[in-house]
Parts: sequence; C-alpha cells; structure tokens
Amino acid sequence: MCWKKAVEVSVLQQAGGLLAQVIDGVELAFYAVEDDIYATSDLCTHGAARLSQGYLIGELIECPMHQGMFDVRTGAAAGPPCTHALQTFPVRVKQGVIFVGLPTGTSELGEDPA
Ligand code: FES
Repeated sequence: MCWKKAVEVSVLQQAGGLLAQVIDGVELAFYAVEDDIYATSDLCTHGAARLSQGYLIGELIECPMHQGMFDVRTGAAAGPPCTHALQTFPVRVKQGVIFVGLPTGTSELGEDPA
C-alpha cells in the first residue's frame, strides 16, 4: 500500500462532505460523516455513474443514476438495485490533510503519514 496526499478536511467539509478526486488514475470519492472521513471508489458498481454526484445521507451514499445505496463506512450495498460492494480505501488525517492508502502498483511508494 502507498499513502497519497488527498484533499484537506476543510475543503471536503466546505463541499458538503462529498468530493471526488482522481489520484494516480484511481477515481475516488471522499466522505465526511460527522467527525470521520471515508474513501471509496467513485464508480457505482451497478452502472456508469459517479457517486460523488449523488447524495450523502448520513453514512449512506445514494447513486444519482438509479438511487442505489452504499454504506460509505464499509462499501456494502445498502439499497437496490446495488448488490455488489464498493471498493473502500483506508484514510488517515494528519494536520488537517487526508491521506488515502492505495494498493501498491498504482504508483511509486508514498510517504506513510503515520
Ligand atoms: Fe448506480 Fe444504477 S448506476 S444505482
């Protein structure tokens, strides 16, 4: 795993707690749920839609295409027609900046923010 610098927490919060970012070619969606930050693939597993264009309702993201739901904490499908889980990514926050852990092979190794 390599840790990559992502968006600042304040920018995510100003965006309403839902923001897309492409890092090393990986399309990610970041979520702020109360005091916690989560990251998943931005691509719905049901069809060709970006979840970052959907609606964050508590810990659930509603897809803008067919209103399927996912739990952003686990990636689990949480409402039809979605049945396949989203890929999730670990996040860490250091000095107000979000770092996301991407699988190795997506880029050169990054600095571990821990
Ligand atoms: Fe997301 Fe169908 S494309 S629910």
